[in-house]
Amino acid sequence: MKLGWPVEIAGTGAYLPERVVTNDEMAQYVDTSHDWIVQRTGIHERRRAGPGESTVTMAKHASEAALADAGVTPDEIDLIVVATITPDYQLPATACLLQAELGCRWVPAYDMAAACSGYVWALIQAAQYVVNDLAQNVLVVGAEYLTTITDMQDRGTCILFGDAAGAAVIRRSQVADRRMLAGQWGADGYRSMLINIPGGGAKEPASHRTVDERLHFMHMKGREVYKFAVTQMHSILVDTCAEAGVSVDDLKLVVPHQSNLRIIESACKRAGVPMEKVVVNINRYGNSSAASCAVGLHEARQEGRIQEGDLVIMVAFGAGLTWGSLLMRV
Ligand code: UT7
Repeated sequence: MKLGWPVEIAGTGAYLPERVVTNDEMAQYVDTSHDWIVQRTGIHERRRAGPGESTVTMAKHASEAALADAGVTPDEIDLIVVATITPDYQLPATACLLQAELGCRWVPAYDMAAACSGYVWALIQAAQYVVNDLAQNVLVVGAEYLTTITDMQDRGTCILFGDAAGAAVIRRSQVADRRMLAGQWGADGYRSMLINIPGGGAKEPASHRTVDERLHFMHMKGREVYKFAVTQMHSILVDTCAEAGVSVDDLKLVVPHQSNLRIIESACKRAGVPMEKVVVNINRYGNSSAASCAVGLHEARQEGRIQEGDLVIMVAFGAGLTWGSLLMRV
């Protein structure tokens, strides 16, 4: 989609729980090793939320940082969208809890369940309210407590995931050139079951059996997702640039979903993007789903890797299967 919307990221924030879980610690739970994990995924360690923490508390920390960065107070927020697949409760929405925690007005607040693509989708969706003058300042959050849905007995998944939150405040651009230039969002529901949580929903309500059979944890066909991811990440990167009429060479920074270093390297290499232009933090945080691009964008801004006028693209894919991209001139 060619967008050309005059919407800017006014501020960003992130929160990472303090507790670090190393690969050696993972090897105490399942039959794996530091070398295998590093070689196959690029992950050295991940974070795990601790006592007193939840998706909402992590989202709150990241949001407060984003609000401060944007110079916006909670009562100036007109809409809150939280991308998450690990809400504190089935009901109410995490965004509603966050609204009260932050002390915002009674503004609309809802969750977006698009898994790892959720933050990119939420930004695209939220920007439409800004473009249409239905909201001035929108808080967009990606927050995940993935270790609560990770089966620590399944070596094919447990080594991958970590907990984190990232947030951004978006608003109408204060500088003419700052724009959301192009984006993509899509889903292949025909491959929904490649990543799923079979139990605990309306189809298989929580019961002793669903718990005994570990159906309340995330199940994934890793290799099939891997193949999809490499192809899809490359094509949305290239196609989004084409839709905006910019060359891939002109990109200053790629902020990819941190799912697997091999997926990121393969997609970027095929697209002709050198790794110096790619945000990588999977070594430190693992895969934090909807928080992944949000944290990546925030850290890149903090590290001074993004300057006025740069072209920055986020690319993500995840359960659904879903995918999303957003190309911005910042
Ligand atoms: O953001 C959500 C989207 N999800 C993803 O992006 C995940 C995409 N998939 C992947 O990143 C990779 O498929 C994995 C990292 C999950 C697995 O790597 P792989 O190279 O695709 O391994 P595999 O599943 O094909 O398994 C190869 C072997 C198997 O053993 P056998 O059957 O060949 O004897 C697995 O049992 O590696 C074994 N294995 C492990 N060995 C040590 C799987 N997980 C582990 C492990 N440690 N943690």
